[in-house]
Amino acid sequence: MQYAKDFTDALQFMWGEGFLSPGGPDEVAEMVAGIELTGKRVLDIGSGLGGVDILLATDHGAAEVIGVDVEPQLVESARALIAARGLTERVTFQLVEPGALPFSDASFDVVFSKDAMVHVEDKAALYAEVLRVLKPRGWFTAADWLWAEDAGKSAVVEAWLSMGPLKFAFTPPAVALRAMINAGFAERRVTDVRRRLQQSNRKEIEVLEGPARQRLAAIVGETMASNRLASAKGRQGALDSGDLIPSHLRGRRP
Ligand SMILES: C[S@@+](CC[C@H](N)C(=O)[O-])C[C@H]1O[C@@H](n2cnc3c(N)ncnc32)[C@H](O)[C@@H]1O
Repeated sequence: MQYAKDFTDALQFMWGEGFLSPGGPDEVAEMVAGIELTGKRVLDIGSGLGGVDILLATDHGAAEVIGVDVEPQLVESARALIAARGLTERVTFQLVEPGALPFSDASFDVVFSKDAMVHVEDKAALYAEVLRVLKPRGWFTAADWLWAEDAGKSAVVEAWLSMGPLKFAFTPPAVALRAMINAGFAERRVTDVRRRLQQSNRKEIEVLEGPARQRLAAIVGETMASNRLASAKGRQGALDSGDLIPSHLRGRRP
């Protein structure tokens, strides 16, 4: 398990209820800009606590959202949040094993994924699965944490990752794009959004150094609160050094 409760409580404190990634509604809106979601069936890979899925169903009008995740406690919490919001008819979650997706061919209009594919080593296999479950002309839109060529050997990155429980796969942008091309996606693109994350992460550090730190410590304890500040600083180091390249990916099934 990578996402224990005290850790996810700390992430939600920073990023909002139901979110295990930064960016919130603005970034989700940017990820789906120009993609018609109204009345569509959407798959969310790595749905975490479900905050994104609420937005896809409410702000963006998806008729049905199915979130998949590999951690049972996250799926359970996501279900509870969706029930509290009265969205159980339209938003559901499935616990899955890493690997093949448990859906038939051409069963989704849109496949979405936010900051989850960074945990998946085999991008080629993942993209092949995404393409398989998409309907013809269906869109794949994702945010992924991509990396500079040698980021896996970077002391800055090592120092950052040593402060948290997460394990990441180091995929450079060129490798991600090549894997999308090889999988057979049309209209693919990889967009570097590092600058925005550099700014928002800097603000996050300011918040964690201010009075909010005490509120966070009251919820998750002093050790986790200190750890979150150290991690945000470590992430800033990896963003500023250019090792971490948060990116938006898009591709379309021909
Ligand atoms: C950083 S969290 C993001 C969660 C959510 N997308 C969000 O933005 O709040 C990454 C999520 O990916 C999930 N995950 C990791 N490996 C996965 C896999 N192979 N398939 C599906 N989900 C996976 C984790 O359990 C976690 O919930």
